[in-house]
Amino acid sequence: MIRPEVLIAPSLLSCDFGRITEEVRAIERAGADWLHVDVMDGHFVPNLTFGPPIVEVMHAAATKPLDVHLMVTNPIEYAARYAAAGAHALTFHWEVIGGAAGARTAARVFRDAGVKVVGVALEPNTPVEQLGPVLDELDLVLIMSVFPGFGGQRFMPEVLRKVEWLVQSGYRGHIEMDGGLNAETIPRCAASGANVLVAGSAIFGASDRAGTITSFRQSATAARERREER
Ligand code: DX5
Ligand code: ZN
Repeated sequence: MIRPEVLIAPSLLSCDFGRITEEVRAIERAGADWLHVDVMDGHFVPNLTFGPPIVEVMHAAATKPLDVHLMVTNPIEYAARYAAAGAHALTFHWEVIGGAAGARTAARVFRDAGVKVVGVALEPNTPVEQLGPVLDELDLVLIMSVFPGFGGQRFMPEVLRKVEWLVQSGYRGHIEMDGGLNAETIPRCAASGANVLVAGSAIFGASDRAGTITSFRQSATAARERREER
């Protein structure tokens, strides 16, 4: 079974904030498929980042889809504003949504706001099995491989079994991994079945960003092909 294509999503959390529009254009030229935008509210995570006006600035400079990861306690309240600012994919966290009923409401509110790809994210300690009843209503599941809040942390390999569980459950949407992805961990994520691969420090910290994105895409595609052959 072939899942959606491999998409490399550099995380703008690691870009130079003094040159955001130039960074958006440069990372697109370097081959980004999606642009990952980490929205943090200072409550759900101990860090603060981008409000809707900054996402609008990114969107005005971008030609590729914005993949907005809401690390906020009240995603439903902010959905319309981030959708209007240009979020193509918009992802809420399962931990704040109030179970399956809350997730259904969020999915409906996000779609009504014009979001094309509705996603749910799981912290490393949240069991993936809880998503079972609502998987059909979600276009994307983001499996976090670090605790949310900061770039540059170490990959947690124990979360790979959540990706395997989604694949075994027959989930057909995007499976995204976020946190600690680099040349060593990307093939492992792709071999488990993830197709959207977020990387912040490993891409923005590289001297050759285009070469890094190309090699991430190649190694992920090869790992997925080996998986399909099994
Ligand atoms: C962490 C964010 C990630 C972060 C990843 O809370 O969700 O998207 O930017 O950064 P790296 O790739 O450096 O781990
Ligand atoms: Zn993220």
